[in-house]
Amino acid sequence: MTLPKRVKLVEVGPRDGLQNEPVPVPTAVKVELIHRLQDAGLTYIEATAFVSPKWVPQMADNAQVMAGISRKPGVCYPVLVPNRKGLEAARAAGCEEVVVFAAATEAFSQKNTNCSIAEGLARFTEVAREARAHGLRVRGDISVGLGCPYEGEVRPEAVVSIARALDEMGCYEITIADTIGAGTAGKTRAVFEAVMRHLPVKRLAGHFHDTYGQAIANTYAALECGVGVFDSSVAGLGGCPYAKGATGNVATEDVLYLLDGLGIETGVDMAKLIAAGDYICGVLGRPTSSRAARAFAAKRQAA
Ligand code: HMG
Ligand code: MG
Repeated sequence: MTLPKRVKLVEVGPRDGLQNEPVPVPTAVKVELIHRLQDAGLTYIEATAFVSPKWVPQMADNAQVMAGISRKPGVCYPVLVPNRKGLEAARAAGCEEVVVFAAATEAFSQKNTNCSIAEGLARFTEVAREARAHGLRVRGDISVGLGCPYEGEVRPEAVVSIARALDEMGCYEITIADTIGAGTAGKTRAVFEAVMRHLPVKRLAGHFHDTYGQAIANTYAALECGVGVFDSSVAGLGGCPYAKGATGNVATEDVLYLLDGLGIETGVDMAKLIAAGDYICGVLGRPTSSRAARAFAAKRQAA
């Protein structure tokens, strides 16, 4: 299959990237990061999560983050919502798009959302109905699509069944996530091909964590399947609190370097994106996890 000419990058750094930080990140820093990301040309920025603050304390300032953002026309700020309570809070904060997140295994569903897959899907069906009735768009994420920290191998059929459920409840886009970054290119292809037997590829997205250094290879495998939407995190920040040892998402800079090299349009400016990564890494006091950002910095220093 020919590669897509244009890719939509969904920046998840402010949410997936920061949700696992042990030290509280000030709201003003999160807002500044989002502003820098939108200035770099990103038009989908997962801003925060309206989840339980007892479960994920780092996202407790969700409403303040939403209130602090200077919303740029043409930019969408999706937020994670696990239940009705989260949806109500997201609506009160003026969110226009919500993300529901189901798991492909029972064990991960219990750890991440304290309920079975079936209970979670029933809850999300209600959330999606309510959200859509109020004019909000709904995106669906499938966790542990390429491997589970508790159950190990995940069969593509398990992912297919969640994808179909998310489709039936009205998710306009469905993301297959490699939560623990254990997937490889062959497995990535197999899971997308399995889901593509039921849903058009233009409705699918990839969300790869980079624990085993496979995320760029997996992105390319998904591109070859025709996938044109990818979640990524500036500076490769992040990790899921319920997937111990899993590292951050693939760095947005690294995905952009791949896409720029392939001549695939994204509308994102590499220099500004790297500057946004430098900003958040400076605040967190740690080096970037982006290989491309490190290479560009070394080149700058050598010049
Ligand atoms: P629970 O404890 O079963 O919920 O958690 P509950 O309904 O029994 O409520 C317990 C308490 O939480 C109550 O407060 C509720 O009001 C409160 P209390 O009466 O004890 O004071 N509560 C809430 N407060 C604020 N906002 C809410 C909310 N809901 C309940 N929305 C629940 C169930 C689903 C809420 C919890 O398990 C939860 O919040 N889970 C989210 C975990 C999470 O955010 N994980 C990380 C994001 S997913 C991810 O990173 C994966 C992804 O990147 C893709 C991938 O890589 O796989 C998307
Ligand atoms: Mg994730």
